[in-house]
Amino acid sequence: MDTITLNNGIPMPMLGFGTFLMNGAQCEESVLAALRSGYRMIDTAEAYGNEEAVGRAIAKSNVPRQELFLVTKVNFRSYENARETVKTSLKKLGTDYLDLVLLHWPFGNYYAAWRELEQMYREGTLRAIGVSNFEPDRLIDLIEFNEIAPAVNQIETHLLCQRRAEREWLEKYHVRHMAYAPLGQGRRNEMFEAPALVEVAKAHGKTPAQTALRFLMQSGVAVIPKSVHEERIRENFDLFDFALTAEEMERLTELDAAAPMIGTPEDPALVEAAMKW
Ligand SMILES: NC(=O)c1ccc[n+]([C@@H]2O[C@H](COP(=O)([O-])OP(=O)(O)OC[C@H]3O[C@@H](n4cnc5c(N)ncnc54)[C@H](OP(=O)(O)O)[C@@H]3O)[C@@H](O)[C@H]2O)c1
Repeated sequence: MDTITLNNGIPMPMLGFGTFLMNGAQCEESVLAALRSGYRMIDTAEAYGNEEAVGRAIAKSNVPRQELFLVTKVNFRSYENARETVKTSLKKLGTDYLDLVLLHWPFGNYYAAWRELEQMYREGTLRAIGVSNFEPDRLIDLIEFNEIAPAVNQIETHLLCQRRAEREWLEKYHVRHMAYAPLGQGRRNEMFEAPALVEVAKAHGKTPAQTALRFLMQSGVAVIPKSVHEERIRENFDLFDFALTAEEMERLTELDAAAPMIGTPEDPALVEAAMKW
């Protein structure tokens, strides 16, 4: 497994397993399949309501805890109560420490939550702390007015929305870029059918999905694809036996339409929707 070093020196896998919209037995089976396939980083969240199922899969897998890199997120509705929320996540996941805890969205009192995460980091309960869905302005503000800088910003990123401008800011502030929805949530046929992607994939005997994930990893972006199908879970892990050429990387870079599907916290429609979450 390729890893990337976080700003506090700890290595993080470049490839992990996403668990959004998975629950109960399906989540447990999918996470078990992922662990069997070799994934060691698992991404969950308080808001997904599946931390217990992820915990059950981990327990059943018999993978030693120290081999895993567990990521969860505190929902913005819990920001005034972040310590208790993280403690509940620990219990549900069946562990006494977490590798990375993120603030899920920059809504509400995220400064209060950040300071609590900083404290839990100092205490050793959290090996790294970070954020998600932060645009550069809020990220820089958080860095400048707190003691510990986020190690990671997890943001929507895929071939059609590569976040290159955001990545420059992340690099400048030593925050690692983690892509969520790296396969466009399976909703972007125009991505999987783009001639450039199909051709590059064919040249390597790989699928468009594998090539899209490889492109992000080769750009220095960690990816957490999700699937509930074992075959796809394995397919999405099989990314380490090929490399794209500089010319292929350039071709795929040109697919960037800089258009997020989910929106950003600056988008009033998204904020309005979030208030109902
Ligand atoms: N921080 C945030 O706000 C945030 C937001 C969204 C997601 N996330 C995290 O990021 C993870 C990944 O994002 P995501 O789940 O939204 O979307 P995604 O990983 O981009 O796409 C998942 C979709 O693609 C399909 N798929 C998976 N592998 C495929 C393949 N090889 N070929 C074709 N289709 C394939 C899946 O279908 P099947 O399952 O039917 O195979 C599913 O419908 C999440 O699971 C979650 O952990 C974070």
